[in-house]
Amino acid sequence: MRIEVEVWRQDGPRERGRFETHVVEDATPEMSLLELLDRLNDTLAEAGQEPIQFESDCREGACGACGVTVNDVPHGPVPRTPSCRQHLRSFGGITRLRIEPLRSAAYPVVRDLVVDRSALDRLIQAGGHVDVATGTAPDADAVLVTHDDAELALDFAACIGCGACVAACPNGAAHLFAGAKLAHLALLPHGRLERGRRAVAIVDQLDAEFGPCSTYGECVEVCPAGIPLTAVAAVHRERLRSVFRGRAD
Ligand code: SF4
Ligand code: FES
Repeated sequence: MRIEVEVWRQDGPRERGRFETHVVEDATPEMSLLELLDRLNDTLAEAGQEPIQFESDCREGACGACGVTVNDVPHGPVPRTPSCRQHLRSFGGITRLRIEPLRSAAYPVVRDLVVDRSALDRLIQAGGHVDVATGTAPDADAVLVTHDDAELALDFAACIGCGACVAACPNGAAHLFAGAKLAHLALLPHGRLERGRRAVAIVDQLDAEFGPCSTYGECVEVCPAGIPLTAVAAVHRERLRSVFRGRAD
């Protein structure tokens, strides 16, 4: 199968980028998007040309490292699926792909398809630590969490930190990502002491590095972890809660 790939090339953060067009003649329907790039890089290396830089780690949808934009959609044409799990067989016969980095003012391009997503890390760092008792392992039932709360907390904890939500948002907002963290931690008794302070710090960091949320919902459409729009509501709820109750729980 013949796939035409228009791919973004950029030599460094301060260099001007451009699209390059290549053809992969021996692509197969079973190939993932990243395997297509691997194949293209083999061809480039054999021809003595510089391979295309892109990020990946687990290649099974768990780590969030691999996000790129394909035909204008963060991650690619298969809804709510990370770039590493996008397979050519699911592209509905598309044979021309335009692959570029995740686009956001918060993500400067490092090289080719690699972007600097450390703004997400700074948001997590701003949230700070979670207070836990040290010592020997506690009894399994020492801290009571209801089954429903545990399930819901796990749903929000499913965020893999890929950053596609920010790239999909017309405002460059990171409320889905931040809300997933805030909702996850707010549901659990651990870290309750820091709940108010955490909300204030994360929301301040959101305002400092990302755009405002207008609840368009584009973020949800691309999120491979299925984080719901109620995560955005969690940002507003936790912010209001900290205003009324102060920075302590
Ligand atoms: S909320 Fe979804 S899209 Fe955003 S970083 Fe987490 S997993 Fe990725
Ligand atoms: S490489 Fe880990 S989620 Fe894609």
